[in-house]
Amino acid sequence: MITRTSKSCALALCSLLALGQAAGAAPALLPVCAECHGADGSGAGLSNVPILAGTPASHLEEALFAYKDGARRCGDEPAMCEIAASLTDANVTELADHFGAMKRIWASEAADPAFSKKGERLHEAHCAKCHVLPNDENADSALGIPLHGQRSAYLKLAIVAYLSGDRETLAPGMEEKLELLGADDIDALINYYSGYRP
Ligand code: HEC
Ligand code: HEC
Repeated sequence: MITRTSKSCALALCSLLALGQAAGAAPALLPVCAECHGADGSGAGLSNVPILAGTPASHLEEALFAYKDGARRCGDEPAMCEIAASLTDANVTELADHFGAMKRIWASEAADPAFSKKGERLHEAHCAKCHVLPNDENADSALGIPLHGQRSAYLKLAIVAYLSGDRETLAPGMEEKLELLGADDIDALINYYSGYRP
């Protein structure tokens, strides 16, 4: 396991440290991801980067394959798509398993109670069928990737990407749901997810 302190070392040195570890330890490519996602999967303090810690491996894998095959395009951060394109299937599985096995990190952003209650109602009505809590026993096999505890700036970026066609949804039906909602509804949903405390 790479420790937090290794984030401050030069990338080449980090790679050597990772490669020098025994088999079964942290993936060799972890330092590459850690630059933006943090070795702990928290997002390295970058607001538009999703939290990976505790998102089930099946969903992380699916997302990485979507970047790899172009179903998800990276507007803000082309490096993410370039890196994904260079990953082998084995890299994808290893990295997804690594971040997926971590304890969930919750964004726990400041939330407006009334606004977030509105978000919760909208979630139950339109999103809960596919999006369950990350620590739900069925999170792995649920259709959608967990949204509770995710960072607000990233949720916004993702929703804008679906609406603009920069991301293709794997589940027909989600885009229509998103298009039915007004900007205020979407903000309420984001307030609810990013402020969610377990
Ligand atoms: C230069 C910064 C950067 C690096 C390096 C990087 N990422 Fe990302 N990652 C991002 C950003 C930004 C997004 C959101 C991109 C988008 O959809 O527009 C993202 C999205 C993701 C997602 C989607 C998560 C979700 O909830 O949908 C996964 C999985 C992921 N990255 C894994 C990785 C892995 C594994 C590596 C290392 C091989 C890596 N990333 C390297 C910045 C980075
Ligand atoms: C029919 C099932 C379904 C419904 C209903 C649905 N989604 Fe999704 N959602 C998905 C799937 C599948 C994905 C993963 C698609 C991908 O790979 O980009 C996803 C991904 C997302 C993401 C990106 C998360 C991430 O970490 O990258 C956001 C944000 C999102 N959905 C929001 C919503 C909201 C808000 C609603 C309700 C208004 C909703 N979804 C309703 C299936 C659904």
